[in-house]
Amino acid sequence: MQEAIILVGGKGTRLRPLTNHTPKPLLGVAGSSFIRHQVAKLMAAGVEHLVFATSYLADLFEDEFRSFSRDLEISYAVEEVPLGTGGAIRNAGRLLRGPSDAPVLVLNGDILSGVDLRAVLEQHEARRADVTLHLTRVADPRAFGLVPTDGSGRVLAFLEKPKTAEECVTDQINAGCYVFRRSVLDAIPADREVSVEQETFPGLVARGGRVFGHTTADYWRDLGTPLAFVHGSADLVTGRAASPLVGPPAEALIHPTATVDPTARVTGGSTIGPGAVIGPHVVVDRSIVGERVTVAEGARIHESVVDHDASIGSETILREAVVGCHSHVGAENELPAQLRLSCGIRIPAQGVRVSGTAAACPTAH
Ligand code: GTP
Repeated sequence: MQEAIILVGGKGTRLRPLTNHTPKPLLGVAGSSFIRHQVAKLMAAGVEHLVFATSYLADLFEDEFRSFSRDLEISYAVEEVPLGTGGAIRNAGRLLRGPSDAPVLVLNGDILSGVDLRAVLEQHEARRADVTLHLTRVADPRAFGLVPTDGSGRVLAFLEKPKTAEECVTDQINAGCYVFRRSVLDAIPADREVSVEQETFPGLVARGGRVFGHTTADYWRDLGTPLAFVHGSADLVTGRAASPLVGPPAEALIHPTATVDPTARVTGGSTIGPGAVIGPHVVVDRSIVGERVTVAEGARIHESVVDHDASIGSETILREAVVGCHSHVGAENELPAQLRLSCGIRIPAQGVRVSGTAAACPTAH
């Protein structure tokens, strides 16, 4: 029986306020919670038993999967205090059922990837590896820890983020998807916080463990930041990224219960949630508009997330913004790019503008 662990216990601080009430893996992406896309991918790769390593808002995962498919058995390993990625893997390992040499798939809960999981498992077995890591190539390696390998794919080191051009010895980075031999996973301490990236993997390499990389050029994106999150969702809708849960490539995914005025333009892989109302001449591009959101005439929403029950006034412009649930952005605002509005905030009409004509001063001088 193929088993897997998904790490879903992080607080997702970079995606606040979306993650104030919802763990990052349960946020909606291309019409389903992100974790459902990952679970569908695991099932397609033959996984029959899945352990969720939860901590932050753990109960919500059980709610999400209460009446899920009988083809997948789901267990929950809940951490009272987050144990870090390594501690979480070991803690979840207690619930595995396979023998000590069984290969166990482990995924970060926030990576959208086109990697062929069966191929990673096959390579792991063929090399009799202790751990096999999926590695992806990035255009600019400076923002990442690097993972150089030798000609046979054996990992040579886990290097900190490079500071100089000379330190950019490879463009390969850890893609957040691993296969562990179960006995290796069982040897990680579970009584304290441990990072696999900083402690477990470098320790294995230093002791001569069989740690291999499986490097691919498949689609790969870490959805940890707001912009990456909306881009990942849009890529699923437009077909740049694949998921068993998403239909054929489209310009937009509009829920059947949403109302979109015929003069509105919803493009770039945007998602419009249930019960949302999109007014005349609105532009929604490469964005996620949540459940019951209303967007009034002429508003423009680019590369942004508007969380459920929020409202956007007429002629307002959002760029790379995150609008928390139940917030109201009045008419004729232009929010600075990358602004994150907390849940329930109200901005009056013409309250914020970064360009163009400001409203006439309403006070007496
Ligand atoms: P930020 O706070 O925005 O950095 O997000 P995060 O908390 O999700 O952290 P990060 O992106 O580094 O985590 C990568 C993956 O590991 C995510 O799927 C997290 O849910 C998961 N994760 C991180 N720390 C823990 C932990 O202590 N326990 C468990 N179970 N999962 C964790």
